[in-house]
Amino acid sequence: LAPAAAERPLAGKRAVVTSGPTREAIDPVRYISNHSSGKQGHAIASALAALGAEVTLVSGPVSIADPPGVTTVHVDSADQMLAACLAAGRIDIAVCAAAVADWKAARPAGSKIKKKAGMAPPSIELTPNPDILATLSKPGPQRPALVVGFAAETENLVANAIDKRQRKGCDWIVANDVSPAVGTFGSERNTVHLISASGVEDWPTLAKGEVAMRLAGRIALHFGRPTKA
Ligand code: CTP
Ligand code: CA
Repeated sequence: LAPAAAERPLAGKRAVVTSGPTREAIDPVRYISNHSSGKQGHAIASALAALGAEVTLVSGPVSIADPPGVTTVHVDSADQMLAACLAAGRIDIAVCAAAVADWKAARPAGSKIKKKAGMAPPSIELTPNPDILATLSKPGPQRPALVVGFAAETENLVANAIDKRQRKGCDWIVANDVSPAVGTFGSERNTVHLISASGVEDWPTLAKGEVAMRLAGRIALHFGRPTKA
């Protein structure tokens, strides 16, 4: 028997989820990156797939396994992450949970940078990375019906996230407190607020899997397809 429609409310919908950090080469052996574990993004990919969506997970380098039931594309840099998102073609849902490095080396060295006697430490000129969330949010026929971003903030969480939603042009922002007191990087739990055009919803502190399930349920509801229970 086919599962009840209420159990696969996102059947027929295509989604892209970004997850993990990006890695920006300084030279062939060194890079710029951050502490993202990929746990939240991977859990969202799984949750969307569990509700029936066809999911492409575009993941930076992480130590966790590829989720079953999801097509995972592995990338290093932000440029590669953007290209992989665009290569997914027409999608209905984009969730940008990756911690994309804001900057990359302007001119990565082709060979390992060596110390030379008496030489001052080299300086690394940085240049901005493409903004994947803002790119996917651009109005046009290709725009996914629903684009969701994250906002990792250490202060003025909700105000910064409301501002971020406007600037990026996305539909929803999941605002995420990453202040040292809360410390979500690598942890199993997350305290988030869901920010949309209609306001701010405070969610209780939940396991990352529960945040993911709740977000996926809200996404199904957005498409007019409530989940069971
Ligand atoms: N993001 C992205 N591409 C970037 C930078 C960020 O897709 N180059 C996405 C993240 O995946 C997240 C959202 O944008 O969904 C917000 O990321 P965040 O780092 O909080 O915002 P920034 O705009 O980079 O601002 P800042 O780091 O200065 O707070
Ligand atoms: Ca950033």
